[in-house]
Amino acid sequence: MDRPVAVLALPLPEEAISRIAAACDVRSLPWPPSRAELIHALAEAEGLLVSNQTPITADLLEVAPRLRVLSGFGVGYDLFDVGAATARGVAVCNTPDVLSDAVADLTMALLLALARRLFENAAYAREGWPARLPPPPLGWDLRGKTLGIVGMGRIGRAVAHRARAFGMRIRWFDIRPDAGDPSERAPSLASLLAEADAVTLHVDLNPSTAGLIGERELALMKPTAVLVNTSRGAVVDQPSLVAALRAGRIAGAALDVLETEPPAPDDPILRAPNVILLPHVGSATAETRAAMLDLAIENLLAVLAGRVPPACVNPEALPRALRR
Ligand code: DGY
Repeated sequence: MDRPVAVLALPLPEEAISRIAAACDVRSLPWPPSRAELIHALAEAEGLLVSNQTPITADLLEVAPRLRVLSGFGVGYDLFDVGAATARGVAVCNTPDVLSDAVADLTMALLLALARRLFENAAYAREGWPARLPPPPLGWDLRGKTLGIVGMGRIGRAVAHRARAFGMRIRWFDIRPDAGDPSERAPSLASLLAEADAVTLHVDLNPSTAGLIGERELALMKPTAVLVNTSRGAVVDQPSLVAALRAGRIAGAALDVLETEPPAPDDPILRAPNVILLPHVGSATAETRAAMLDLAIENLLAVLAGRVPPACVNPEALPRALRR
């Protein structure tokens, strides 16, 4: 029987390639794959294993007549055209759950870094604690402060769990009114923003969340409040955030994600005051990346073997994806 062709469009360790090669004919692409390389490889691919930072658009799916599974490495799938994939009977898979703790840990690290002015203090210490310069201003305690969690899914709940242990009061807002503890639910996004000492974003990026935090929302926040974003950059209207930081309308922000990644050298966010920037490393621990890879491979191999994958975002595509 013919073995399915699996295109591997991200850098993988040898053991991972061998595991896939035990069941498939493997085509490994250079990293990062060019569009031309993807188009060429997709002509015969039945499976595609790809970073969720690589856009897989409708026109790419059109040149993939045999494709049955698009297995993304990551929980977010905003760069994949899921509608076009579903229409073509292609299962789109992702890696939820296994990264929730790592992203929640990083969220707390950023919150603590803002509260304790970690980077200003580290820079001051590295300068040799210069007597001629005043030390950074005092930080603030997490205990007793209100954390507003926007998006109470797996990661939002993992953040809430940690923040409660720090003595924080939780307020959450989600389009699903039963997403978390009802006693902590904010009646509206506006009330959460007005009440919180820190706001953290954990929604996925889709047309209803793009620009969710813009000028109006930032204006609702307390001038002493901070914003943490470990979800997707485009959930925040970045020019409005830069303006709010410059005007001191909020006290600070910590962003693991940006509207454009990597940012252009002249992106104003790079020079905005009171902002901590990280290069999208929410899931970047050895254990979490290994678990994500394991799940992404299992998703790929399951569909190619005609089995229901552990994590599929468009189950309505499965009847066709599994039959071929
Ligand atoms: C995810 O898994 O979506 C993380 O943001 C890394 O891309």
